Amino acid sequence: MKGGSIFLPFLVWFICIAAPARAAVKTYQFDVQVKNVSRLCHEKAIVTVNGMYPGPTVYVREGDRVLINVTNQAQYNMSIHWHGLKQYRNGWADGPAYVTQCPVQTGQSYTYDMNVTGQRGTLWWHAHIFWLRATVYGAIVILPKQGTPYPFPQPHFEHNLILGEWWNDDVEEVVKQGNNLGLPPKTSDAHTINGKPGPLFPCSEKYTYAIEVEQGKTYLLRIINAALNDELFFAIAGHNMTVVEIDAVYTKPFLTNAILIAPGQTTNVLVRANGAPGRYFMAARPFMDAPIAVDNRTATAILQYKGIPNTIIPTLPQLPAENDSSFALSYNDRLRSLNSPLFPANVPLKVDRHLFYTIGLGVDPCPTCLNGTRLVASLNNITFVMPQVALLQAHYLNLKNVFTADFPDRPPTPFNYTGAPLTANLQTALGKRPRLSKVAFNSTVELVLQDTNLLSVESHPFHLHGYNFFVVGSGVGNFDPNKDPAGFNLVDPPERNTVGVPTGGWTAIRFRADNPGVWFMHCHLELHTGWGLKTAFVVEDGPDPDHSHLPPPKDLPPC
Ligand code: C2O
Repeated sequence: MKGGSIFLPFLVWFICIAAPARAAVKTYQFDVQVKNVSRLCHEKAIVTVNGMYPGPTVYVREGDRVLINVTNQAQYNMSIHWHGLKQYRNGWADGPAYVTQCPVQTGQSYTYDMNVTGQRGTLWWHAHIFWLRATVYGAIVILPKQGTPYPFPQPHFEHNLILGEWWNDDVEEVVKQGNNLGLPPKTSDAHTINGKPGPLFPCSEKYTYAIEVEQGKTYLLRIINAALNDELFFAIAGHNMTVVEIDAVYTKPFLTNAILIAPGQTTNVLVRANGAPGRYFMAARPFMDAPIAVDNRTATAILQYKGIPNTIIPTLPQLPAENDSSFALSYNDRLRSLNSPLFPANVPLKVDRHLFYTIGLGVDPCPTCLNGTRLVASLNNITFVMPQVALLQAHYLNLKNVFTADFPDRPPTPFNYTGAPLTANLQTALGKRPRLSKVAFNSTVELVLQDTNLLSVESHPFHLHGYNFFVVGSGVGNFDPNKDPAGFNLVDPPERNTVGVPTGGWTAIRFRADNPGVWFMHCHLELHTGWGLKTAFVVEDGPDPDHSHLPPPKDLPPC
């Protein structure tokens, strides 16, 4: 067990509490640098921030301004995304490469200048170019405003648990091989908790994360899924968890023996150390209810009662079965916004714009690939192509010939989306330029994401930048626009930035387009993002400068 990792959060917490009540400016220096690390008896060079894996935690308080200067000392071009921060009128600080900025080149720096308003809880940051987020990620902890307590009992202590994936080989090489073949690259070699796979893996003695608890005390765990491609179950042997927050939005608390967390999502739980004094495994393992290969290995960390010797062998928790769709559906059904006077759920009740997007996999011709074809993915049959300059710059400067604003509001032809597998005629539309959807300022949008059986059904975690949205409904099978809206929850639906569209099903989300800019929306499975499962919204400026996008900062990286 490493003592340092236990005391650092407390120290930061103490400093934050002791600070004066007004909004502060917090500054961080992020040096992107290559470092050798070893896991599973394999040593390799990885890209890190400040040599740390996972990277440093960003602590801020709601209302703060935070300046993070990123200096790139690695051989890759780099950009960092602050996943879940709304970045009001300030897309320049959002980070997805070629969407809101060109990447920071080797030897260069860029300062992300952000205001953290109207949000509190756990978010995270990660590289947003290539698959570099495999090792370049960390937590963002937004403490509530001074004098505003949590809407749940004050925990004795807090810990971050970041779930990830580890490959023994260089991840960028693994991806390159997959792309050359036109096939999925090999799956990861381990899952990790705070960068550590735990004792079920070889050479793990030093690479096990542990938390010490005191009998009877309550702990807040901030759980983040930073895995590239795997939705995960997480459970603690002998202990239930109370879910109190998701994606930096408070929920109605509920007790569960396991959580489900998709890549991109965060979940805060309270855990009471009310078991028999001992050592207990915390474990994470994938959820996969489609016939698709997945790294099914279990990562573990240890919950250890004070005074219990390290020689005691911990017990493993009972995780839901890998394909337990009914656990997934019922768990997601239990998520509800807190919707209190202080933290209301402002669900749009009237919809200005109805969108219906189908999610599909497909095969496109590829003469150099193994089978003469390559796997792709699409929304409304469109495989997104990336631009050479940032879309936000093109929008702000009115550059022509970069993108078209003609992304269709529905698929080209309706079909039985979730019927028998469809393998004929799979070619997707590959435009010359990215196709985006234009949205009027302050209009309310309802988007139904419909999974399809194009090649295979699969669960897809969709993430929208620049916004939280309300998950007003979801179901299995085809969305029925005549019947399903009657069952929508417009009172206390979960509010989040990433939602898992169920395998062979649909999810309806609503949001008010009050944040002008160009906002990326994509599947947070890196494999699918790379295959083109993405698009972006161009939200127009409001009526006056206070509701319009800000001008670019001077140090915005050139392409
Ligand atoms: Cu966490 Cu566009 O990503």
